[in-house]
Amino acid sequence: MGTVLITGGTGALGKLIVERLRSTDHEIRVLSRRPGAGTHVGDLQTGDGVSEATAGADLIVHAATDFRRSGRHDLRQTENLLAAARDARHLLYVSIVGIDRLPLAYYQRKLACEALITESDIPHTILRATQFHELIAFILSTVDRWPLAPLPLDFRFQPVAAADVATRVAELIDGDPLGRAPDFGGPELFTLAQLTDTWRTATGRPCRTIRIPIPGRAARAYRAGYNTCPDHRDGKQTWADYLASNPATTYRLRG
Ligand SMILES: NC(=O)c1ccc[n+]([C@@H]2O[C@H](COP(=O)([O-])OP(=O)(O)OC[C@H]3O[C@@H](n4cnc5c(N)ncnc54)[C@H](OP(=O)(O)O)[C@@H]3O)[C@@H](O)[C@H]2O)c1
Repeated sequence: MGTVLITGGTGALGKLIVERLRSTDHEIRVLSRRPGAGTHVGDLQTGDGVSEATAGADLIVHAATDFRRSGRHDLRQTENLLAAARDARHLLYVSIVGIDRLPLAYYQRKLACEALITESDIPHTILRATQFHELIAFILSTVDRWPLAPLPLDFRFQPVAAADVATRVAELIDGDPLGRAPDFGGPELFTLAQLTDTWRTATGRPCRTIRIPIPGRAARAYRAGYNTCPDHRDGKQTWADYLASNPATTYRLRG
């Protein structure tokens, strides 16, 4: 039994991690910028409230991110967390499969966060996961009412339920620090065209799609599936099962 602090514990993944850890003997702390949303108010960007949240926490799950601003502040936020978390027995960072092969600003910033953690003296585990079902659902729900939905239909994904990733995080944080954990992917690999077909079966939309031919290295990497880990089909919930259990699903971007 220990005290676990979850940064990002109010986010799409983090709230599921909190749910999992609440069924253990651990004391749970949730850092949030918004009073009342977590157990501790704090801002990783400014550092306000962070040492109060980390004091006495022997386990830390770092799932906070600034995705809406392409992770522009993630490095500073991770620095502030590491500075306050020197006494932690185990820090787990949630990262993304393929960030070293996909030239996107958000991914490069996450890679820099991984490096900070690796170079720190804090015993740690870095867990890279593939895109969540919730993210694919958000992308499709953004365009599916348009008369003609423009999508990069040839991009490849291996979507995973955030709930399955949360279960893995809860297992890992209780174990020994692994450095880099094996990647964690969803049970199936699809093109976005195939994911859209299943979405259409579940929702009746979109009526028509058109493939947008996105140029550049990042798009090529998505077409090649560098964001997937076919040898790690660990998640249990399929895309179709996710849609069946979340008929009106939305993925709210936070920040
Ligand atoms: N989405 C995906 O498909 C996917 C796939 C693989 C890995 N990941 C990784 O999984 C992690 C969680 O992603 P998510 O999609 O669940 O995130 P999310 O829903 O966007 O949630 C972001 C969280 O970060 C917190 N946060 C942001 N700025 C903060 C600050 N300055 N101080 C304190 N907290 C701050 C927010 O808390 P408050 O607003 O309450 O302050 C919120 O709880 C991220 O590291 C992401 O890169 C995501």
